[in-house]
Order: sequence, then C-alpha cells, then structure tokens
Amino acid sequence: MKKAIIKGTGRYLPPRVVTNHDLEQWMDTSDEWIRQRTGIEKRHWVPEAGGVGPSDLGFEAAKIALERAGWTPEDIDLIIFGTLSPDIYFPGSGCLLQHKLGLETTPALDIRQQCTAFVYGLEMTDAFIRSGYYNRILFVGAEAQSTALDLSTRGRDVSVIFGDGAGAVCLEGVETDDPVGILATNMHAQGEFAEILTVELPSPRLNPWITAEMINKGRHYPYMDGRLVFKTAVRRLPQVTKSTLKKAGLSIDDIDLFIPHQANLRINQAFAKAMNLPEEKIFHNVQRYGNTTAASIPIALDEALEQNIIGDGSTVLFLALGAGLTWGAVIYRFEQ
Ligand code: UT7
Repeated sequence: MKKAIIKGTGRYLPPRVVTNHDLEQWMDTSDEWIRQRTGIEKRHWVPEAGGVGPSDLGFEAAKIALERAGWTPEDIDLIIFGTLSPDIYFPGSGCLLQHKLGLETTPALDIRQQCTAFVYGLEMTDAFIRSGYYNRILFVGAEAQSTALDLSTRGRDVSVIFGDGAGAVCLEGVETDDPVGILATNMHAQGEFAEILTVELPSPRLNPWITAEMINKGRHYPYMDGRLVFKTAVRRLPQVTKSTLKKAGLSIDDIDLFIPHQANLRINQAFAKAMNLPEEKIFHNVQRYGNTTAASIPIALDEALEQNIIGDGSTVLFLALGAGLTWGAVIYRFEQ
C-alpha cells in the first residue's frame, strides 16, 4: 500500500526582526508582559514598505524543500497552500506560487484552516496519495500577517503574538508494508465558535463590503477572544492527542517528539503538563518566531530535523488548534 512519506522540508523567515522592545514604541505593552504571557521574545515580519506576500515567502521555503527532496518543480503533482493572509483576496496564493515555480498547469489549491492548515493538509495529502489521485504533493504554509495587524494599543492583545514566515514539505507516495508515513489523523471543526477568532472584513455579506466607518472601528483587523481560545486549546489538545494515539494503536511513550502549533508557550506548557510529558519531548520555537499560523508546524518540523532531534525511524505527533474553531492531530513515522 502507498504511504505518504516526507522527502524534504524547508523554511524561510523574512530578514526583518521585530523585538518586543520594538513593539513598545507603537503600543502600550512591555517586553515583560509579552514574555510572561506568551514566551515570545521576537518575531520576523515582512518589510514595512510591503511588496512581499505569502507566495513569495512560500517560494523561498519551497525551493529548499524541493532541493532536499531531489525534486524539480515539474515533479510536483499538486500544490496545497495553507494561509490566512493570502497575497490577494482571490485567486489563492497556491496559484501565485505555482507560477513563481515556473509551472504551467500543475493543480494548486488553497486551504483556509489557519493554525490547523498543516494537520488538515497532511490528512488531505494522505488521502490523495492513498487513493492514487496524486503522488507527489508540495504543502506550503505561509503567512504575511504583520501588515494586517492593528499596531495601536487597541490591537495589542493580538498584534504582539503574530509573526510572518513560511514552511514547506514535499510528500511522496511510497509502496511499502512497513508502519511508516502518516499513521493516524483526527480533525475537528466547530463553527459555533467562528467569531471568537476572526477577521470580519471585507465581507461579501455586507453591501458595501467595507466602509471608512468600519475601518475606523478596526473591523478589518483580527479579533480574538484570547482567554476563550486559550482555555479551549488547553482542553481540546490533550483530548485530540489521546484519540489520535488510540486510533494509531500507540501509547504516549511511542512518540519521540510532539510538535505543536506555536501560538503561545504557555498553551504548549499546559499541554505538556496535562500529558505528563518530559520537557525534551515537546518542541518550542515560538520565542523566536511568534505565532506564524499556517507556517508554524512546518517551520518547527524543519528545525527539529535540522537539529537532529528527530530523524530516521522517529515517530512524531503534530497538533494544532486555531480559528474555525478547528483542531486536529497527525501521527507520522519516518522511514528507517
Ligand atoms: O494561533 C491560534 C490561536 N491563538 C491562540 O492560541 C492564542 C490564545 N490566547 C493567548 O495566547 C492569550 O490569551 C493572549 C496572549 C492573547 C493574551 O494573554 P492573557 O493572559 O489571556 O491576557 P488577557 O487577554 O486576559 O489580558 C490580561 C490583561 C488585560 O488587562 P486588564 O483588563 O487585566 O487590566 C489586557 O488589557 O493584559 C492586558 N493586555 C496587555 N497588556 C500589555 C492584553 N494584551 C496586552 C499587551 N501588553 N500586549
């Protein structure tokens, strides 16, 4: 049976580094508050002058992943692009990336799963590969979200946590009976809570889509009920981890590394505590990059591989919760 196997990963962070002290210039916040509440020390943002979108960041990450996989762009059968900050309203950033890669008619689709884009994307990849629809899939998660943040004190709860960046993963169908590749997936959504983490405007359900008055009220900026998202994450992430382990017939000790979405260090520490995990079994980099939404897990995966924390034969559990609300987990085992 065909299994979806990771052949190459890559990441790209735009060079502009914004520290907590930089944020203090624009809004009433402090390095101490941000570190204590989130663990974040700095993040990378696209240039202030604009001109760089997620497809540009994704292109840089994809080039590295392709090279490591030993693929040329022509080897790609399908591009899946995860982003909440598409370059333009439509068409999707996947199409823009496809053109940047020099491809003519390779299919490309965007998924709107925000922080859970990678886990949803892996489940889709697994289904496409097992069914024989596509054999070589490039997943890219990329965000240029800093340009759409409210940098005044009004938006400080949201604006201090987000960063820009991209992660890319090449997955290929490999015929094997070994227990490798994607071992189990488990996705959820609860639209009842769509409004607790959202960018409302511009909205086609309004006519006109957006007005100066709406902009003055900041309705085009992200809104988040941070406390409720936090509480939900701390409850849902252990639940989905346990059910995914059960589905795979594995125990928590079988997992070499947990790679959670990097939203807030405190959320991931609370998860580790609830699961009784030793510190070395959970990966964190939110301190350096902030919350890069769809890019966060593929960036973390790329770093964990580069640091040799995981490698041949390792079993990894990816997990995330974000806007939608959506949440999910995937267990993946590398080939020996
Ligand atoms: O990525 C997908 C999903 N997103 C998440 O998982 C994020 C989940 N939520 C969080 O990470 C946290 O809720 C935040 C980091 C966003 C906020 O932390 P918190 O500990 O929940 O703070 P809070 O919103 O309850 O606010 C506590 C206080 C408030 O002041 P008062 O009312 O107690 O006087 C806020 O006004 O902190 C104030 N505050 C700030 N102070 C300085 C909020 N943001 C800031 C800030 N700097 N940036």
